This record gives sequence, C-alpha cells and structure tokens, in this order.
Amino acid sequence: MATTFHNFIGGRWVPARSGRTFTNLNPATGAALGEFPDSGPDDVDAAVQAARGAMRAWQLTPAPKRGEMLYRLAALIAQKKEELARAATREMGKILIETRGDVQEGVDMAYLAAGEGRRLYGVTTPSEMPNKWAMSVRVPIGVVGVITAWNFPFAVPTWKIFPALLAGNTVVFKPSEETPEMGWHLGKLLEEVGLPAGVFNVVHGNGQNVGWPIVQHAGVDVVSFTGSNAVGTRIAVEGARLGKRVSLEMGGKNGVIVMDDADVSLAANAVAWGAFGTTGQRCTATSRVIVHERIHDELVKLVVQRAQALKLGDGLEDGVEMGPLVNARQLERVSGYMKVGADEGASVATGGQRATGAALEKGFFFQPTVFTGVKPDMRVAQEEIFGPVVSFVKVRSLEEAIAVNNATPFGLSSSIFTTNVNAAFTAMRDLNTGIVYVNHGTTGAETHLPFGGTRGTGNGHREAGHTMLDAFTEWKSVYVDFSGKVQRAQIDNN
Ligand code: UN1
Repeated sequence: MATTFHNFIGGRWVPARSGRTFTNLNPATGAALGEFPDSGPDDVDAAVQAARGAMRAWQLTPAPKRGEMLYRLAALIAQKKEELARAATREMGKILIETRGDVQEGVDMAYLAAGEGRRLYGVTTPSEMPNKWAMSVRVPIGVVGVITAWNFPFAVPTWKIFPALLAGNTVVFKPSEETPEMGWHLGKLLEEVGLPAGVFNVVHGNGQNVGWPIVQHAGVDVVSFTGSNAVGTRIAVEGARLGKRVSLEMGGKNGVIVMDDADVSLAANAVAWGAFGTTGQRCTATSRVIVHERIHDELVKLVVQRAQALKLGDGLEDGVEMGPLVNARQLERVSGYMKVGADEGASVATGGQRATGAALEKGFFFQPTVFTGVKPDMRVAQEEIFGPVVSFVKVRSLEEAIAVNNATPFGLSSSIFTTNVNAAFTAMRDLNTGIVYVNHGTTGAETHLPFGGTRGTGNGHREAGHTMLDAFTEWKSVYVDFSGKVQRAQIDNN
C-alpha cells in the first residue's frame, strides 16, 4: 500500500478534513508514490488561523535567533541532500544531478537568509530638526501565502519561505500537486529544527481548492506565487481588489544570441544544456536561439548532434541525461506545439515526437526538438512551451538580435555569445530581461543575486539576492524627538 502523507497545520500532521486524498505519480515510470491530502478551503482556514496565532511570538523572537534556526536548517538539508534529491527525481522526473542542484539551491538560500538575521538592515538618517532622531526599519507583514510550481520543487519554495520566515512572518505553503512530497519534506525539516508550531504550515491540494482560497483568505497578507502567467494575472487582480501584496514569477521565453564571432562549440553546448536540461521545464530554459546567419547552419548542426546523443530515461538511473515531462497534460501541450510550428512554416531539424522504446513506455517522454526557419513572431518563438523544444531564429546583426530577443511577452533571462567586448556591453545594456548572461546559457542563476524578470514574467519584485526581503517586509519610519519641545518640521526650521 502506498504511504499516506498529511498536511502540516499548527505543528500537527493532519489529513484533509474531508478525508480525501490524491495520488502522487512518478512521471518516468507511472508508479504511485504516495497519497496526499486533497484539501479544501476549511483546511486552508485552519492553516491560516494557526499562522495568525503564531505570528506575535515569532515576530518578537529576535531576528538573529530566527536566523540561527535557518543555519541549523541549512546543515540539515545538506545532510539529507541525497535523500531529498532522489525523492524529487521520483516525483518530478528531472535527472539526479539536477535535483541535487535543486536541493543545493535550498541549502544556499537557507544560509543566505540566515545571515540576514544579523543584518536585516534599516537606514538611519539625520533629522532636519535639532535633538531629534530618525530611522527606518523593516517590519514583517503578517501571514504569507506561498504557492509554487513543480519544476523546482525544493529551490523555488525556499526563495520565498526562508526570507519570509527570517523577516518574522508566518507562512501557509501550498506545494504543487505534482510535487507534494518535497512540500512535505520542507514541513518535516522545519519541524526538526524546532520551528514553533504554526509558524510554517503546509496544505496540499490543487489550485482551485487550496491555492485560490489562500489568495482570497482575509487572514493572508501577502501572496507569493510562481507559475503560469494566466494564473498569476488572476492572482494580481484579486490581490489588488483585496489590498494584498502580491509577488509573481511567471515564466519566460528566453533567448540565446549567438554572434558570428562566438565560440560556436561552446554556444552549442550551452544551448543544448539550456534547452534540454530539466527537459526544458525551467522558467529560465533556452527556448529561442537568435543566431547570426553566418554561423547559423554550423550551430544548428552541433545542437542537433547533441540533441540526438542525449540518453532519455528514468532520472534515477546512471547515464540518463534527460527525464520525462511532468505529466500527460504537459506531454499533450508540448506535442501540440509541433503542429503549431508546422502550420506556421517552421521545420523540425530533429525530434518532434513522443519518445518511445521499452524503457520509456510508461513515462511522459518527448524527443529533444529543434525548430529551424522560425520567424520572430511565430507562436513557437513567442509562447512558453515548457518542454525540450528550441526555436532557431536567423538574424543579420546585433541590433536585430537584441530587437528579436526583446519582442516577446516575457523578460526573465537572456544571453549573448560573443568575443567582442563592445557587443557584450551593448547587449548587457539593451537586453530587456531581469537576468542577462554573457558567454553562458540562460539557466543557472545563483541565489545571492536577485531573481525575476520584466514584462509578463513578473510584477516588479525580485526574489533571493539582496532583494529577498522586499516582498515580505514593510518599511516603518521612526522619529524620536528628545528636545522636550513641539518641533514642527518644515515650519520651525524655515
Ligand atoms: C525556475 O525555473 O523556476 O536559474 C527556477 C536557474 C535555476 C532556477 C530556475 N537556478 O535555472
């Protein structure tokens, strides 16, 4: 019988009040991995009440002490890295070296956020009046609702949860229903380091029954969401109506520009990794190659070779280089884009179909795919496919390449391969994305730099980095007058 997992509410492990469960499946093998609570609004309500109840004591816990808990957590995650990585590969499919990286990113984030416990800097500034003190401090906001996607089931939740907790907020977390076990592990880890009951709560279930009630709950002050642009936009509208702070991370259509002076072999390796790593299911995945016409054919040839050499299979097995898509719906979606591309006149240089073979039969495998002859306004060059599919767009100049890169609804990550320093700096200035790489593909952001994007990718917030606390704190300006008089600013001194 499959193991049954529970929600984590007010420091207790409890089933959904309805008693309903859903089954977590391995996308490579179809095996059932466990039963998770199929929760509803009443479970969300219980979690929010618990989070509100725990708020005051947590806010009054000195920030360095909150930080120390995260230091212990970082060490604990590092110690369990292999176990966590295996669980992540089992439930979401990407290969083991990648899930190890996903967990490592959580370790890095825990250390980074922990350090803020002894900084959490405010700003002091002189008052314009004599014998008066002025300063501004960060204060927690309250209860943070965290709703995340399945593709980075460990790292991405940690970018939100750890800074939110460090700042003195309490949290209600809905992990993706594709990767509930990683959400469960986060609950276990935080319990093990002694986080007080109710400070962190996990409610499993789907978007409609758990995610949306979190967004709407009057006891949730901030919503931090990673997922599709369609859902993020709905959350933004609802958040505005309810007066909540909303922080959104919503996808990309990331381009790699390859100029004719680039190291073409290096660029090909980076494109193959960016496009087919994580089976293309990263917000930062390379989904367009914007390539100078003089080296176009050579680069296509090299990327096709690399695509065809990739070994597909169960990410837990040695030697496997690309896992499955996460579920049947994603397989259908990616397959659907083959027709979209063909109808618009793009050619398939390699791939284009569901991957078959004895070892792949039970999983949602799709061949690494290269589209060529893609025009910048085609749907396969504009829409996020979220699969191992990359579209080649041919250009004649740096200016054209930058213009093509910038003309999509998303602005997360971009990259340029060139050996010309002037071209590199021009691109750094003009590429309109939240992250820009030079001579490196579009994936691989590090936790101590801000993460996020422009246009349809976000709503102006940046996660991690030195910006990590911005979504989860308010600023309070404090004036202390020790003159013993009523001093009127802007009046008595002018
Ligand atoms: C995501 O795809 O949502 O930069 C996150 C990267 C990783 C994080 C990706 N460090 O590719």
